[in-house]
Amino acid sequence: MAVERTLSIIKPDAVAKNVIGKIYSRFEKADLKIVAGKMLHLSQEKAEGFYAEHKERPFFGDLVKFMTSGPVVVSVLEGENAVALHRELMGATNPKEAAEGTIRADFAETIDENAVHGSDSPASAAREVAYFFEDSEICPRTR
Ligand code: PPS
Repeated sequence: MAVERTLSIIKPDAVAKNVIGKIYSRFEKADLKIVAGKMLHLSQEKAEGFYAEHKERPFFGDLVKFMTSGPVVVSVLEGENAVALHRELMGATNPKEAAEGTIRADFAETIDENAVHGSDSPASAAREVAYFFEDSEICPRTR
C-alpha cells in the first residue's frame, strides 16, 4: 500500500475540550506519523478559502463562524493509506452516526461542531496540505 499524506484539523470545539493529546494519540496508535503541526486562529478569509467548495451550502456561514471561533490545530499525517485510515479514525461527519470508538463518536456531539476534519481524497490532501504548510515545514520521518 502507498505511503500517503493527509491534512488533519482539530477543530475549535475539540481544542476547547482540551483533547488535542487524546486525538494525537489515536493517530499514533494507528501508526500515522505527525510530520507537521501548528496551532492557528483562522481568519475569516483563510476559513472561507479552505471551505470554498461549500460556499453555496446553507451551513457555509455557520461553518466559517465556528472554524474562526477559537484556535485549531492543523497537522500533516503520514502513513500507509493515510487518507482513508484517518477518515476511518474520525468516523462519520455526523457524530450521531459515527461508529463506536471513533474520534467523533467520543469527542463530538453535533454535525456543526464535529471535532475534526480530514482530507477526503489524495488529491484534496495535496491541496489542503499546501494550503496550510510550506514544504520546508514538513519533516518526513527517516526512522
Ligand atoms: S458532504 O455532504 O459530503 O459535502 O458533506 P461533508 O463533506 O461531509 O461536510 C462538509 C463540511 O461541512 C461541515 N458542516 C456540515 N455538514 C453538513 N451539514 C451541516 N449542517 C454542517 N455543518 C457543518 C462538515 O463538518 C464538513 O466539515 P469538514 O471540516 O470538511 O469535516
